[in-house]
Amino acid sequence: MLRITDLHVWYGGIHAVKGISLNIPKGQIVTLIGANGAGKSSTVRAITGLVKQVSGEINYKRPNGENIKLLSNTMVMLPEDIVKVGIAMSPEGRRILPHLTIEENLQLGAYIRNDKEGILKDMDWVYTLFPRLKERAWQKGGTLSGGEQQMLAVGRALMSNPDLLILDEPSLGLAPILVRELFNTICQINAMGKTILLIEQNAFAALHIAHRAYILEVGSIVLEGEGKKLLTDPKVKSAYLGG
Ligand SMILES: Nc1ncnc2c1ncn2[C@@H]1O[C@H](COP(=O)(O)OP(=O)(O)O)[C@@H](O)[C@H]1O
Ligand SMILES: [Mg+2]
Repeated sequence: MLRITDLHVWYGGIHAVKGISLNIPKGQIVTLIGANGAGKSSTVRAITGLVKQVSGEINYKRPNGENIKLLSNTMVMLPEDIVKVGIAMSPEGRRILPHLTIEENLQLGAYIRNDKEGILKDMDWVYTLFPRLKERAWQKGGTLSGGEQQMLAVGRALMSNPDLLILDEPSLGLAPILVRELFNTICQINAMGKTILLIEQNAFAALHIAHRAYILEVGSIVLEGEGKKLLTDPKVKSAYLGG
C-alpha cells in the first residue's frame, strides 16, 4: 500500500535519514523501531509532506487501485492533500487541542469530510474503541491524563477515515498497563481493515503486534523481518529488549 524507496531527509547539514526503503502491505501492521534520534519522526514527516530537504520515492496505492506519488525526487505532496488520499497521522507528543473538548477534537479530525452520517458512525466507533473518551466527551483536552490524550490523538486520526494510519510513538510516557491496552486497541483498529505504520521505541510491545518490522539506527535500516521473529533475534534482544 505504501512503498518508500531510497528516502533521504536532511536538516541543513544534518543527514537524518540516509537512504531507507520500506514496504507497508495493505492490511498489515508494520512497525519502525529505533532509539531517540534514529530518524523515525523524520521518516513520518517525509510521508506526510512535512520536511523540505528530502529525496527518494514514496508511492501510495489507494484501496481503489489509484497510484499516487507522495514523493518523487524532490517533489512533495502537501500535508492537507495527503489526508485527502486516506492517510492520517497521530503525531509524536499527542498535539491535541487543550482548550477544546474531546468531542470537538474528534470533530476536527473529520474536517476534510462532509458525509455527516459517516462522521457520526466513526465517532461512535472511536467511542467504542475508547470508552473512557465517551465518558469524558465534554471534558477539555488539556485536562485529560497522558493516556487519555494519547487515545484522543489516535481517535482524532481515525476521524478522517484513513486507509493508512500512522502512529508516532503512541506508547511514549504511558504506564505498561496502558501500553498493553492501547496496543490491543491498535490490533482492533487493524482488524477493521486499517493498515498501520507504528513508530516505536518500545520494541517489545511493537514487535508483539506487528506483522513486519524494520529497525532504524542513525538514519539507516539495519534489520527487517517478521515482528514475532525479531523478538527472538539475538541482536534485537541485546540492543532493544534488555538482553
Ligand atoms: N527540525 C530539525 N532541525 C534539525 N535537526 C533535526 C530536526 N528534527 C530532527 N532533527 C535531527 O534529525 C535526527 C533524527 O530525528 P528524528 O527523526 O526526530 O528522530 P526520532 O523520531 O527517531 O527520535 C536527530 O539527529 C535530530 O536531532
Ligand atoms: Mg520521533
